[in-house]
Formats: sequence, structure tokens, C-alpha cells
Amino acid sequence: MRAIMLREPGEAGNLVWTEVDDPVAGADEVVVDVAASAVNRADLLQRQGNYPPPPGASDVLGLECSGTIAEVGADVSGWRVGDQVCALLAGGGYAQKVAVPAGQLLPVPPETDLVAAAALPEVACTVWSNVVSHAGLTSGEVLLVHGGAGGIGTHAIQVGKALGATVAVTVGSDRRAERCRQLGADLAINYREKNFAEVLKASTGGADVILDHLGAAYLGDNVDALTTGGRLVVIGLMGGAKAELNLGALLRKRASVAATTLRARPQEEKARIVADVREHLWPMLELGTVRPVIDQAIPLPDAAEAHRALEAGGVFGKILLTAR
Ligand SMILES: NC(=O)c1ccc[n+]([C@@H]2O[C@H](COP(=O)([O-])OP(=O)(O)OC[C@H]3O[C@@H](n4cnc5c(N)ncnc54)[C@H](OP(=O)(O)O)[C@@H]3O)[C@@H](O)[C@H]2O)c1
Repeated sequence: MRAIMLREPGEAGNLVWTEVDDPVAGADEVVVDVAASAVNRADLLQRQGNYPPPPGASDVLGLECSGTIAEVGADVSGWRVGDQVCALLAGGGYAQKVAVPAGQLLPVPPETDLVAAAALPEVACTVWSNVVSHAGLTSGEVLLVHGGAGGIGTHAIQVGKALGATVAVTVGSDRRAERCRQLGADLAINYREKNFAEVLKASTGGADVILDHLGAAYLGDNVDALTTGGRLVVIGLMGGAKAELNLGALLRKRASVAATTLRARPQEEKARIVADVREHLWPMLELGTVRPVIDQAIPLPDAAEAHRALEAGGVFGKILLTAR
């Protein structure tokens, strides 16, 4: 098969489309003929040499895919050759075939195109595990999503609304604010023009749950924006990893701060998250209250172009990489 390999850590031009060995299904795995993968910000970090794959994971980039099952391991039940699936991966998605633990497979939802389904596993598992399973967002609460126009953000808006929350987002332009409102966001704050904590406190009284990927840069304002009992979940460090935290402010609000990552979790935990997503979030996709948001699809051999597009900014939702 062919896959995108990294000649050496560095710029996007180091990604090469080349011949590699076919994957073989382990006893608890299936091999998927990949229809599409999708680009994640973590892929850019891995390409630069700053986010090595966890032990045992493929060297090939790619944290999610969709496709058709081509081979089923001896201990796998519930899946058959020919099933259309999408999958959460520890790596290996930028390829024509990938081996996947069966616990990380999801069926392609009935109303979703096979290629488009590649946009779902990472955002669905990240948003559900953090916003719902960890932070416990409930109907009537206020959810603040940073980067509302990004891959995670566009999904979190829809999930928040489907759960009956008021959803606020931060965005980098008025055009992106408008698009987030069209997706269902109740409030979109241009972070280049306004302090989000001030705007949020004035309009909703604060956020019960915040999904953050700016880390250090936003820690102070995030804690300021939390309501009493509020929950801040940090999933990225685009604004740095080290900051001072005023525990007094947390204490007075009985608020909490957590930080999580999906990729490094043990397989059993990933399988639990995938099972939760299938049980609770997949019905939202079936109803059409949540749908994949795709900015563009680029052929997999041109993955470098897709990386440059994500780095350049302005992407709304996800970039797909099509393998067929
Ligand atoms: N921990 C985990 O398990 C996990 C899993 C998946 C993703 N993540 C992380 O989650 C983050 C988002 O992922 P993604 O796939 O949605 O990436 P993405 O599509 O590239 O989106 C990134 C977003 O960040 C926004 N942004 C940049 N600077 C900002 C600022 N100062 N304030 C507010 N927003 C800002 C951008 O908004 P504008 O373009 O509007 O400026 C953009 O929409 C990344 O850091 C990723 O690594 C973590």
C-alpha cells in the first residue's frame, strides 16, 4: 500500500507519498481500506517532531479515518468484512489501509457520507469525553468554546446546542462569528477585539463549562469567566503550558480545572469513550442535529498542501484527506 511518511521532522514538504508494508490485523483488530482521513493540529506538531506517537502506535500520521473493513482479527465480534466504518486511531490514518483495535470503530451514521465520516471520530470523542463525560454539561448551562470555527469548535457548538446548553464561542473574525452563529452558537466573541471574559460575564453571567485549547494564555481569563461550580477543561496548549493560577479565585467559586489528552489514553479507555459516543452522540448524527463540518477535501498524496492550509488559518471545520 501507499502512505504518507515523514522524511524527517520539519516543514510540510517533508511529507512524502510512498510505498510501505500493508498492515496486518491483530487478534482484536480489523484492517480498514481507508476512504478518507482528516487533518488534526496534533499532526502538524508530530510532523515538526514535537509530538511523537505513543509506544506501539504507527509511525504514519493520522488520528482518524473512514473506510470499509477489509480483514477481521480472530477475536473480533460485531464487525464484518465490507462494513462501512470510521475510527479513532493512535496513528496510521494517512494511508490506504490501517489496522484498528475493534473498540475504536464506529459505524458510519446512516445519513452521513462515507468520506465525510472521517471528520467525526476525533472531534466526537474529544468533545464528548471532555464536555459531557468529564465536565458534565447539562441542559440550561452555558458552554464557552474557544476557537468556535475550528474542527473541535464547530462540533462542540452543535453538541452543546443538542444538549440544550447556551453556547458561546471565541473567533478571530466577524465572518467566522457569523458562520458559528449559523451553526447554532448563541454568542460569538471576536477575541481580537474584545475580552471574552468581560463579554461573557456581562451577557450570560459566565460559563459553567469552558473547552479551552489556549492553555496558559487564557488561564486567568478562563477562571475569571467561570460561574460558581464552573468547570474548565484544557485540551490544548496553543497559548503555552505554564501560567500562574490564582487558587483563591477557584476556591471562592468552587470551580475546577482539568487538562486531558485523548491520544495517550490506554486502548480500554478509548474503547469506553467510543462506546459512549456511539450510544449518546451517534443518535444526534442520525437525527441531523449534529453533522460533520468540512472546509475542503484534498487528495491524500497532497497531505503537505492540507498541512499548509491548516497552518495558514481560516479553515472552518475540518480538512479531509481522500484516499480513493
Ligand atoms: N487533548 C485532546 O485530546 C485534543 C484532541 C483534539 C484536539 N485537541 C486540540 O484542540 C485544539 C483545537 O483543535 P482543532 O482540531 O479544532 O484545531 P483547528 O481546527 O486548527 O482550530 C484551532 C482554532 O484555534 C483558534 N484560535 C487561535 N488563536 C486563538 C485565540 N487566541 N483565541 C481563541 N481561539 C484561537 C482558531 O480560531 P480563528 O481561526 O477564528 O482565529 C482556530 O479556529 C488544538 O490545540 C488541538 O491540538 C486536543
